[in-house]
Amino acid sequence: MTTVIKSKSPGVKPRHWLSFVDHEPNELAALVKSAREIKAGRDQHAADAIFGRILGMVFFNPSLRTRTSFEAAMMRFGGHAITLNVGGDTWNLEYRDGVVMNGAAAEHIREAAPVLSRYCNIIGVRTFAGMKSAAEDAQDALLRAFARFATVPVVSLESATEHPCQALADWMTIDERFGSAAGRRFTLTWAPQAKATPMAVPHSAVLCAAAAGMNLTIAHPPGYELNADVLARAKQWCDRAGTEFMVTHDQAAACASAEVLYVKSWGSPQFYGDADGQRDSFARHANWMVTQRNLATSESVLMHCLPVRRNVVIADDALDDSRCIVVDQAENRMWAQAAILANLLGPPSGRS
Ligand code: CP
Repeated sequence: MTTVIKSKSPGVKPRHWLSFVDHEPNELAALVKSAREIKAGRDQHAADAIFGRILGMVFFNPSLRTRTSFEAAMMRFGGHAITLNVGGDTWNLEYRDGVVMNGAAAEHIREAAPVLSRYCNIIGVRTFAGMKSAAEDAQDALLRAFARFATVPVVSLESATEHPCQALADWMTIDERFGSAAGRRFTLTWAPQAKATPMAVPHSAVLCAAAAGMNLTIAHPPGYELNADVLARAKQWCDRAGTEFMVTHDQAAACASAEVLYVKSWGSPQFYGDADGQRDSFARHANWMVTQRNLATSESVLMHCLPVRRNVVIADDALDDSRCIVVDQAENRMWAQAAILANLLGPPSGRS
């Protein structure tokens, strides 16, 4: 095997895949189409683009699906993946400018990102929200720092604000199930948890539904409002598509009309830094746990990004129902990401 590693042109900014809001719905739809073609074995482009290429993944947080599906996508098409776990098998990394690095971080992203760019054709980064300040989380500073200092494309493996790979796989999964997601009724419902979790996945679910041209309802208890900019973008896309956009505190009504019921827990910013307060709030809203009764019709589907806590977030009877398509979602991560990788890596790497 001969692999040509092309040198980077100085001054040319790489294209990144960091969020849905950086793209237009038609660009995202094209990627979904490409993912379905790759899955069906009708698209040689992914194999040509990925063959001989190297993906470096930097995880600041744990993963089962993201890590495995990216590694599988690279291996399946003749590429290779390197996984680094920050603070585990690699150094703790600093991202803030001008800090005195006398704490846990031994290396700065200013060096780490360009160094990894010399070894790898593309870099993935997973970095969850800090959940200390909603305003700080909205900046997505760590992911954006990687994108700033890398000289190859950076892919979000879930960041403080969004999980765009999950959203693309979810869109693909809904298309597969219904022929097309467009015009379907999508409900995102909040659910309780054992501990506070970030808003990246609910943000991405909302953006996915709006970009795909679905009628969107978001249900959560008071105090669990999602990021206003994300909601504004989703509403803009719904308005443009002529679909409904609604936020409600009435879970039963929101589920009653859902063809796609997407379940996700998230913490309330008013309890950031207050674990006891958050736990009490989850307990007060324990009846928001989704059960089989929340599935509206025989055609409705139940979605969740996984991992999911059984009988806290979703009851056994719903997760074990044939209308639950969480495993399909997880599989489609691999195909959707193959489409993203192929799109970013571009033309063949020089296979011989
Ligand atoms: N859905 C998802 O990203 O799963 P992991 O956290 O296991 O990667």
